[in-house]
Formats: sequence, C-alpha cells, structure tokens
Amino acid sequence: TNITWDESAAEKGGFKHFMLKEIDEIPESIESALVGRFDDDYNPVMHELDEFNIEKIKRILLVACGTSYHAGLVFKYFAEKYLNVDVLIDVASEFRYRPIRIDDETLTIAISQSGETADTLESIRAVKKAGGKVVAISNVVGSTITRESDVTLYMNAGPEIGVAASKTYVNQLILLYTLALYMIKKRNLWTEEHKKIAKQIVSSANLIKKIISNKEIERVSDHYKNYQHFMYIGRGVNTATALEGALKLKEISYINAVGYPAGELKHGPIALLDPTFPVFAIAPKDSLYEKMRSNIEETRARNARILTIATEGDTEIQKISHDVLYVPEVHEDLYPLVIAPVIQLFAYYIADKRGYDPDKPRNLAKSVTVE
Ligand code: G6P
Repeated sequence: TNITWDESAAEKGGFKHFMLKEIDEIPESIESALVGRFDDDYNPVMHELDEFNIEKIKRILLVACGTSYHAGLVFKYFAEKYLNVDVLIDVASEFRYRPIRIDDETLTIAISQSGETADTLESIRAVKKAGGKVVAISNVVGSTITRESDVTLYMNAGPEIGVAASKTYVNQLILLYTLALYMIKKRNLWTEEHKKIAKQIVSSANLIKKIISNKEIERVSDHYKNYQHFMYIGRGVNTATALEGALKLKEISYINAVGYPAGELKHGPIALLDPTFPVFAIAPKDSLYEKMRSNIEETRARNARILTIATEGDTEIQKISHDVLYVPEVHEDLYPLVIAPVIQLFAYYIADKRGYDPDKPRNLAKSVTVE
C-alpha cells in the first residue's frame, strides 16, 4: 500500500488554509495572551509598565497600520470612556510626517504584529527622538520595533502564517483592553463594572470557542459570495469592527468593501446602495443599538440585502435584516472581541468560495518593510 503524505496539509493541521487554522486557534491564543495578566481578584497585572508614571499621563498617542490600526481604534473608544485622557490615533504612514507634540504627560503606544512594519518603526523613532516613551504591542520576540521601544507587551499568539491578520488581531484586543484596565486601576478609577469587564475577558476564550463553531457563518456567506460590493457599518467602538470587517473582505476576496461609522451613511455612502450593494451591519445590544436600527432601516429602504450581527435573543432584528448572525451577550465594550472571529470567518468563506487562496492574497505581504 502507498501512503500519500501531503506535507502542506500536515502543516495546516488538517485545515484547508492557515487562516482557518489560525482562526480556530483563537481560544488557545487568547489563553496565552492572558497568562499572568489578571490576579485572582481580576485586577490587571502589567509589570512591564511599573516603571511608567501612569498616573501622570494626560495624552495617549496610538500608531499602527492595517488591522493593528483597527485594534488601536478599539482602545481609543474604550480608554477615552473610562480614563480622563485624550487618545489620538493615526496610521503610521501619516503620523510620521506630521508634527508631534511630546511631553512627559504623553505616552505612545505602537501596535505591530510583525514588529517590522517600516512606517510604524519610523513613527517610533520620531517619538523617541522627541524624547517620548513608547510601549510596543507585538507578536514577534526580538523584532526591530520591540528593540527600539521602551517596553513591549507580547501578544503570545504563536506564529501567524496567513497574510491577513486573524488570531493576532484578537490578541491585540486582549492586550489593549488589559492595558486600559491596568491604567484605570492605577489611576484609582476602578469600579465593579471594570471587574465585570475583566472577568469577561478572562473567560472570553470559552465564549469564542462557541462562536467559531457556528456553522451559520459559512451558510450565510453563501448568499453574499457573488456580490462585487459590500458596505460595513457600525457605531461607537464597533466603528472599528466595521472598518476591520471591510478590510478583511477586500484583502482576501477582492470585493470592494467599504466600512463606515453608520451615522455617516447619509453624508454620502448611502448613495451607493441598491440591490447589488449589500450591507453588513454590526448591531449588538449596546447603548447605540436604537441608532443602529434606524441606520439599518435606512439601508433597507434602498433595497440593499442586509446581514446583521446581533446579540443572541434579539429576534426583533430579523424583521429588518435578510440574514442575522448571533453572538452571545457581553459587556457592551467587548463586542469587538467576540465579533472579530465572525467577520474573519465570513471573509474567509467568501474568499474560498470565490476560488481565492486566503493565505496569499495578491499584492499583499505579511510584513511591510518598505515605506
Ligand atoms: C500588512 C498585513 C496586515 C497588517 C499590516 C500591519 O499590511 O497584510 O495584515 O495588519 O501589515 O502589520 P503589523 O505587523 O505592523 O501589525
């Protein structure tokens, strides 16, 4: 008998693509990110930052590219809500060419999975030159960005082969939420609500295990695989989810996907919508839910096909959506974390159904070391 051994299938652990394998690894990847991050009473632990004067910080600058930039956006919404600080965020290719104001009340956070992205690295150099302190968030031990930053928070996601970030985005979110909670604690702003958020972060791996096993994601993706356009909308912290959803879809399926804060629809983008232009609405039960509902109604009036991500139990939303994907109820600030694997799987299935290799999208590189 002949035993045929497919080496590339073995590397992928039986999965068709690395991207699918890496999405499947999200729960264990979260567990690795969380090692030592919360004590028994759910207080955040970040010894790397003990030398920083967190109490004094009045301004946070965030710099990153691509998916890492979207993780930064989630931090901005979350940190500004609870910390009395201004959080400014920019993509690295713009940040580095703009004047920067650094003082000892400013902290810069640079987010880079690879730790090698040229524009992010140059932004860090500019901040350091101006006398600023930089906290890096990276997945690659010893990468250039980690060497040039003051301290690094490691994502511990393990290697990610698929070009489009998946499990590393989730780990960035885990670290950024934890970092914000650490700052909240240090600044004596800690409440029971923060403890509740911390608890949910600590148990998020289990929740996500359930979310990624939802067969509905693949089934629903079949209704959308032949469209040439897509519009993702969300509000508040899920503006970042909408932008990241659109980025994932365009990266690997080459569908012209755009992402907008839903309130901007009427300022232009709604003119695009018709039956050939579906909408992906991020509408969990949060404080902006009613506003999102009216945005969904607006897109419905243009006869766009609507796929909504909603909170389990929200059956009302089915009346105004063509398809609904559910995620479990979590604290409203944590929806980006539980929705991330859903938008990743959705983009993955569409790319695969269209016959593209999601691991190696055309024109894209895993790590962009050119400016
Ligand atoms: C490339 C990758 C993206 C990634 C971006 C930033 O464009 O294709 O998936 O988000 O670089 O990478 P970094 O390693 O700095 O997070």
